[in-house]
Amino acid sequence: MAQAPCFDLVFFGGTGDLALRKLLPALYYRHRDTKDCSGWRIIAVSRQPMETAAYLELVHEAFQRFIPAKDFDEAGWQRFSTRIEYMSLDGLNPDDYGLLSHTLADSADRVRVFYLSTAASLFAAICENLAKAGLVTDLSRVVLEKPLGFSLESATAINEAVGRIFREPQIFRIDHYLGKETVQNLIALRFGNSIFEPLWHRASIRDVQITLAETVGVGDRGEYYDHYGALRDMVQNHALQLLCIMAMEPPSSIDPDEIRDEKLKVLRALRPFTPEDVRNKIVRGQYRAGAIDGKAVPGYLDETGIPEGSTTETFVSMRVDVDNWRWARVPFYIRTGKRMQERMSEIVINFRAVPHAILPGNDAGAVNRLVIRLQPDEGIELHVLAKVPGADMRVKPVKLDLDFAETFKTRQWDAYERLLMDVISGNLTLFMRRDELDAAWQWVDPIHAAWAAGSDAPKTYSSGTWGPTASSALIVRDGLSWKEET
Ligand code: BG6
Repeated sequence: MAQAPCFDLVFFGGTGDLALRKLLPALYYRHRDTKDCSGWRIIAVSRQPMETAAYLELVHEAFQRFIPAKDFDEAGWQRFSTRIEYMSLDGLNPDDYGLLSHTLADSADRVRVFYLSTAASLFAAICENLAKAGLVTDLSRVVLEKPLGFSLESATAINEAVGRIFREPQIFRIDHYLGKETVQNLIALRFGNSIFEPLWHRASIRDVQITLAETVGVGDRGEYYDHYGALRDMVQNHALQLLCIMAMEPPSSIDPDEIRDEKLKVLRALRPFTPEDVRNKIVRGQYRAGAIDGKAVPGYLDETGIPEGSTTETFVSMRVDVDNWRWARVPFYIRTGKRMQERMSEIVINFRAVPHAILPGNDAGAVNRLVIRLQPDEGIELHVLAKVPGADMRVKPVKLDLDFAETFKTRQWDAYERLLMDVISGNLTLFMRRDELDAAWQWVDPIHAAWAAGSDAPKTYSSGTWGPTASSALIVRDGLSWKEET
């Protein structure tokens, strides 16, 4: 069992969905599997007046919903709950920080993490108030949840304000997709094996498809979601980060800045979209009523908190070009949406077809495919052609399947478990540096500008499908098809 360092972890947004659904359960698991947690202190902060006992009831109730019964035990919970205290504090009010200062007064020599799971518009003020209250020590770190800003301009303002209080190595910009086991496995696969790298470029790879499909709708986040939409919610961060890990050059070491330098080069090589490209190479959609798993679900415009006639996109698919030597003329397709047919996140790498087909059944195009699966389960599949048993020389694609849960027979860490532990140990590898974030916004902003200037509304799609038909047309135009349409 691992030992854990001593730390004080302060959650702003302590009663929010993320804290209750992801962050506290992640800490529960780490607490359960760690030998000595006597130095852990978790302080949940929010505006709601409440005693710690009432807060713990709230967390206990959330754990019944978000932690599978087989992983939860009351004795473990009792031990974990002694690490938590609740404090009512308005992050915007400098006069409210007295109790927090008092509580942290004797622990300036411990790692101190301020996790801002609040709207990004509050980040600057909270950081300034932390500094005014004398709470920012050399061992302090701040974690900023996505979406960090709404555009390059607003992200710059936030980063500058936070940067006046915290140095860049103290700032952890979180993208939970980078904490997923498969994403790190993609790094292991690419840079720990010699067999893939010689194939990892335009001469062997025909196209790459990154799909982040969800069956859920906007749920009770309508107000937030309508403001941001799928491009800001999923593409600007999660999808681009996956693309970077897939496409980056091998770094010279696993050092955080070596990796982040390489990711940044990919972001800077993304071909910018002109308004005409936005029309031709991007499909945006919005879901209508339909059925998911046989159950009727409402359309986006009928969800709670969505203004009448909203044109916010709940689906995006796009063709992306990475303009560098390695990836010239290899199309990357990104697709993400809510209320789609399946919950499925994966990176599909389609290799080129054999140059000369001699086997019957091998003339239908590319068969070699590497699938890096992030959801619903994590694993890697390699599709190859094999002979069908029998007298004839008939071939068929088969899968070499590496299911991590099956192979390693251990519970997979949730992304937030890893990322929280990385923050505590000060490892920045899986967090976005400011220049990466700027480059991503710089690429995404013109798409929003073109949508705002045009008069087209998003195309509609029925819930429970793979998005608007235009999304199939987008890829068919290049003579290709989405994996499920192959
Ligand atoms: C979040 C988005 O960042 O990622 C949500 O804000 C989305 O809209 C979620 O549902 C998806 O995460 P995961 O890990 O469930 O794929």
